[in-house]
Amino acid sequence: MESPHPEPAEIVAGRLQLRPFLPRDVEGVYAACQDADIQRWTTVPAPYRRAHAEGYVRDNSLAGWEEGAGRSYAVTDATTGDLLGTIGLVEYDADEQIAEIGYWVSPGARGRGVATQATTAMARWCFGALGVARLQWAAEVGNEASRRVALRAGFTVEGVLRDRIRARDGSRADAWVGSLLPRDL
Ligand SMILES: CC(C)(COP(=O)(O)OP(=O)(O)OC[C@H]1O[C@@H](n2cnc3c(N)ncnc32)[C@H](O)[C@@H]1OP(=O)(O)O)[C@@H](O)C(=O)NCCC(=O)NCCS
Repeated sequence: MESPHPEPAEIVAGRLQLRPFLPRDVEGVYAACQDADIQRWTTVPAPYRRAHAEGYVRDNSLAGWEEGAGRSYAVTDATTGDLLGTIGLVEYDADEQIAEIGYWVSPGARGRGVATQATTAMARWCFGALGVARLQWAAEVGNEASRRVALRAGFTVEGVLRDRIRARDGSRADAWVGSLLPRDL
């Protein structure tokens, strides 16, 4: 997978700022990733240790992006700088102009439109700076919060991929999939 260079390095979207991760974000990432929903619905390691947060922050720092390790932005409060969540590309194929988005929001920042607003900002960046023609979303069937974010951001849910997801225990689960195209914005 190619890794896009973060141009621009920072994206301001209303009350949110998306930027590369900074060392001061380690504590917030570590705390958020203890959350049962993040553990349940994403692929973060479990148990989630401080070293995982340190590695994630390093990979998704500006230097990490430039080295090709990172593809995620810190979603922060544009006023306070507080870390609210993350949004990034779990897949990116420059030749095919296809990317897939992924996100989580810290438990204390949920229910205020953070994920929706960050998704829209990320989509604009993908369509503009990266030249993406099709932005994909996928979530385990039953992740209603993620599906609502995708719908609210304008994605079309296209169907169910059977047994698309392999769980930590080796079992498999179906995935909802959807897409957003530049003309949908
Ligand atoms: C999914 C997640 C990112 C949503 O973040 P958020 O900032 O609270 O989302 P928003 O405030 O933008 O909400 C968008 C929509 O989802 C709905 N929603 C949010 N949480 C919900 C929940 N637990 N159940 C049902 N709907 C929910 C909101 O009501 C809103 O819908 P509406 O505008 O139609 O009312 C957050 O719950 C999370 O981090 N979950 C765990 C990680 C995860 O599942 N990531 C996605 C993996 S595919």
